[in-house]
Amino acid sequence: MIEYNEKSGLFHLSSDTFSYVLAVRDGRLLNLYYGDPLTPGTDLSYLLSSYYQVSSFEQIEQNLPLELPSVGTGWYGDPSVQAIGPDGNNITKLRFADYKILPHKEPLEGLPSVGVGSARLEKDETLEILLKDELTGLQAILSYTVLDSALARSMRLVNAGSDELLLTHMASAGFSLPSRRFEVLHLRGAWARERHIVRTPLGQAQVRIQSQRGASGHEENPFIALLAPETTENADPVYGLSLVYSGSFLAEAQVSPFDSTYVSIGLNPMTHQWHLAPGETFQCPEAVLVYSHEGMNGMSQIYHRLYRDHLCRSEWAGKERPILINNWEATYFRFDERKLLSLAKKASSLGIELLVLDDGWFGVRNDDRRSLGDWYVNPEKLPHGLSGIAKKVGELGMKFGLWVEPEMISPDSDLYRAHPDWCLHAPGRSRTEGRHQLILDLSREDVQDYLIRVLTSVFSSADISYVKWDMNRNMTESFSALLPPHLQMETQHRYILGLYRVLNTLTEAFPHILFESCSGGGGRFDPGMLYFMPQTWTSDDSDAVERLKIQYGTSLVYPASAMGAHVSAVPNHQIGRVTSMNMRADVAIGGNFGFELDLDRLSDQDLATAKAYVQKLKDLRRLTARGTFTRLISPFETNYTAWQFADEKRVLLCYYRILAEPNPIPHRVYLKGLEPSALYQIDEADASSLPESFRSVFTGSALMEAGVPMIWDKTGDFVSRTIVFHKVN
Ligand code: GLA
Repeated sequence: MIEYNEKSGLFHLSSDTFSYVLAVRDGRLLNLYYGDPLTPGTDLSYLLSSYYQVSSFEQIEQNLPLELPSVGTGWYGDPSVQAIGPDGNNITKLRFADYKILPHKEPLEGLPSVGVGSARLEKDETLEILLKDELTGLQAILSYTVLDSALARSMRLVNAGSDELLLTHMASAGFSLPSRRFEVLHLRGAWARERHIVRTPLGQAQVRIQSQRGASGHEENPFIALLAPETTENADPVYGLSLVYSGSFLAEAQVSPFDSTYVSIGLNPMTHQWHLAPGETFQCPEAVLVYSHEGMNGMSQIYHRLYRDHLCRSEWAGKERPILINNWEATYFRFDERKLLSLAKKASSLGIELLVLDDGWFGVRNDDRRSLGDWYVNPEKLPHGLSGIAKKVGELGMKFGLWVEPEMISPDSDLYRAHPDWCLHAPGRSRTEGRHQLILDLSREDVQDYLIRVLTSVFSSADISYVKWDMNRNMTESFSALLPPHLQMETQHRYILGLYRVLNTLTEAFPHILFESCSGGGGRFDPGMLYFMPQTWTSDDSDAVERLKIQYGTSLVYPASAMGAHVSAVPNHQIGRVTSMNMRADVAIGGNFGFELDLDRLSDQDLATAKAYVQKLKDLRRLTARGTFTRLISPFETNYTAWQFADEKRVLLCYYRILAEPNPIPHRVYLKGLEPSALYQIDEADASSLPESFRSVFTGSALMEAGVPMIWDKTGDFVSRTIVFHKVN
């Protein structure tokens, strides 16, 4: 709900879980409150005078809870908006001019956002606040939509003056809290160990979480949260900010000398500037703010619902995903039609539904040194083309999927020989290669059009049901051959806008295709990509134990339905660890389940186990994709991991022990969010390997308060168990 109180001059935005109160004083837009819901009609204007009680030596703005700090009039922190005028002046003085309340949320020009198109929410009233700089003519339009328990925010900058302005800071959202007693929560990592949960005290410091890579990146996710030191998974406050964007970003928490904290998220000023000519508008990406006093699980569950149900517009967003086999770790570049069909045959006998043909099917791509850009079939590997293999896979009762890496170009490719200027590069500098490849300059419309043309032809050349869209390196020499010198700092953002245009066109042209995004695993696992593609390959690291941390961390923001999770070979190809088929499959249950190994090399016993899991997953996948996901025991803190999925009828408990323990201490896991008085019974199949006493009926309160003893029927390292509880009344 959005209310404006004429008398107090306060805006009150609220849902069942939060209130967000804005005030205008001396033309400045102030954030008076963000937290638990206030009683309707609460007037917070009494708080205002306290902000003005600073020593006369201090500038007032340092102490004010500014919603949109800028430079030059008394704020000495990093600004959220800054425009430099033709005289070189960076003073940016934006003052309240007007507001309006729109009945619906509008899509963002050229950018993905939540709750638009077919992903709309029933209620999406939107507040727009107009701020103006009278001298330069810069206007900032701040937009706020209450979407269930989340607040979607963005900013549009308009040049209503007569001179060109250079935008150097353009955050999407920020707000101030009257305390510095916070910890910063973020998702840190690197290739093969993405999105590990990190929690550090803020103290008096300034914390910057960022990417300058031209992609959201493996290293940090476009997400930051502030939480109280006492906040746990299930209790106490947490404020999350997540950016719907796939390029470089900056999330920042700054403590003022008066112990308030300003937190913001948006484009990274190190990599993004924009020239705004008179009459032009710049749209900043959308940020999604979530407040919960029910701890990190409370926050995550709000993000999960929103990102699962109201972000991706694909017809696949709400559908059960096929169980797949991907040939990458089975064959790498060494395959032919015969090998693929042998994999498919075995897969089909296990009940697997989709064969994904990964890298190596095009050009002369027999290793990773060449051919990106040459999107035509290698006839030696696939003599009957894509349509031939797709047809034969179809005859086995399976669907066919394909890998592409369209944003890239190998210097050893026909495309590069024809268009050496189509990659990002800077005059006079060598072109830095990553995995022997360069990046196509998607800021150029001719390159975008080319990609749309060539991919349309590939996707329509065969019966293709799934596409894995990869992107395996980050930007260097972020310059464009077509842009004049003064616009070069726009290249990265223009690239992302170009990428979004290509994705928009292709996903609309091929609505039946299930798209999965990938970037050397999880190097672009962000809400921007999830808007176009409902799932992402979570990590190139498919080791079951490493995946516990990666999937647990990813779940801080993203739903299980967004994560690709595959059973791969042992010894694991990334780290050499050996784990059982059960452990690998029990971990892969936590995402979109699939296989990525050579089925022809599996023992009969492993094949039988794999088959049993395929059957089990067909029964469970609705629950894992749509149920409420709760983290129970953290692999970052203990030798154990546990999580659960719950819907109205069932609860799936998954627990894992990493290393064996001598003479082990008995441990329990406490389920969450069940109906206390409801009765639950363990599924017969799961109960058969548990002690007799588990074959009884439990109340929800017993499972939550007294807990479930963790029973291991195996000794040794890396063991797991999954238990389904059926609600019986
Ligand atoms: C990336 C992906 C892998 C695989 C390879 C192919 O590393 O993350 O899953 O597709 O590229 O080259």
